[in-house]
Amino acid sequence: MDSEAKPVAAVPNAAASSAAAPNPADSEGMKLWGGRFDGSTDPVMEQFNASMSYDKAMWKQDIQGSIAYAKALHKANLLTEEESTNIIAGLEVVKSEWASETFLIQPGDEDIHTANERRLKEIVGDVGGKVHTGRSRNDQVAVDMRLWLREHISLLVPHLIKLLQVFIERAKKEKTILMPGYTHLQRAQPIRWSHWLLSHVWPIVMDLKRLQSLYLRVNICPLGSGALAGNPFRIYREGLAKELGFQEVTRNSLHAVGDRDFVVEYMFWASLLSIHLSRLAEDLILFSTSEFGFVKLSDAYATGSSLMPQKKNPDSLELIRGKAGTMAGNLCGFLMVLKGLPSTYNKDLQEDKVKMFETASTMLGILQVAAGTVATLTVNENACREALSEEMLATDVAYYLVKKGMAFRNAHGKAGEVVKLSEELGCPLSELTLDQLTKISPLFAEDISSVWNYEHSVEQYEATGGTALSSVNTQITEAEDFINTFTLQ
Ligand code: ARG
Repeated sequence: MDSEAKPVAAVPNAAASSAAAPNPADSEGMKLWGGRFDGSTDPVMEQFNASMSYDKAMWKQDIQGSIAYAKALHKANLLTEEESTNIIAGLEVVKSEWASETFLIQPGDEDIHTANERRLKEIVGDVGGKVHTGRSRNDQVAVDMRLWLREHISLLVPHLIKLLQVFIERAKKEKTILMPGYTHLQRAQPIRWSHWLLSHVWPIVMDLKRLQSLYLRVNICPLGSGALAGNPFRIYREGLAKELGFQEVTRNSLHAVGDRDFVVEYMFWASLLSIHLSRLAEDLILFSTSEFGFVKLSDAYATGSSLMPQKKNPDSLELIRGKAGTMAGNLCGFLMVLKGLPSTYNKDLQEDKVKMFETASTMLGILQVAAGTVATLTVNENACREALSEEMLATDVAYYLVKKGMAFRNAHGKAGEVVKLSEELGCPLSELTLDQLTKISPLFAEDISSVWNYEHSVEQYEATGGTALSSVNTQITEAEDFINTFTLQ
């Protein structure tokens, strides 16, 4: 094997082989788990094993969990009043250091749990070591993640609501604008621009409902499950859960420490929402081309080209579309981490945070940029209307005949003949004479002229969910009611 291709694990343990080489983690006794170790950890392994660089994001939740656990230990008579007070005061100091960005991370700090405990012991002395009684980092990390995700979900909600409001406000102001509706990206039937806007509201309403439901499964307390077997000190888990604002406790300790379903569910949720917004982005990218010209992005959400001075690129939308791929990648990547794991905790699970944090921060970015882009674009009413063409009324010709009593299948055929004739003659549908039309069907009469009207076309779709004005108004009212009554719990 050539030397460059050596796997990381083959790097020699420099610290172990040379007494002169100082290694901050030399003293394995310093580690939370160092008692049974004689040799020191390989420096590359030390780095490979550490999660501090990213799980420090959970400093607040880690302290929150420890404070609640210290209280529970006191209630279970494992800490005296004084010990518990000292520990909690010490944890408050650690918390203030993180909050003021003065917490000093030491080279031996493996993860946020070991770092906080190390610092606590420096502040309160050996009594700090009692906070981990009956607890393992396995139930600790699980509770930290659930607390963190719960908070993140609460943070997401106003952004989702804001995005809905942006669509609804535009729909309210721009009800009268008509545009082509597309299937297969081919002109299909006239629709209201407001109906298109609202079509992006309803998937997000469903996403909010999905979030509400997954929140229940995040909001379950695993603390008190120990490493895997449970808690031997009669910790009152239900009280602990209540103290931390959880709705219930996990029912099986083996399951509790190995369960990351809530992370997967959140990442699926984020992927689906991102795909909804990718569809919005793709629509708007097309609509903003010179060929369509329906919308123009504001300068705040577009960028220029370093070479072509005339360019205004829809980067905001392209990034939303692109990041939807990253989100799905995170979900698949983490599912692959889980696949093949045996029960309970395995270190593979440490990968969960990398994916969860990236997904969460990307999601916040996507939501804000989507709201900003949609709120600030301008719609070109004339371009939308000019893109309407009379062949888009062919379905209406069929409906005209249906209303005169013809079976829809036959009416579809007759309307097809009308379109064919107009193509042959090279004239729009509305310029065909009544004489020409009645040769196709005797049911055609003077009132066919009312069909050559795009307003008339859209106003037919009055049934719930259609593009008629009355339906658009109902959608607006219903979406607003949803927003006004939405709560996570
Ligand atoms: N940093 C670890 C993680 O994120 C914490 C749990 C460690 N547990 C253990 N048994 N080594 O997964």
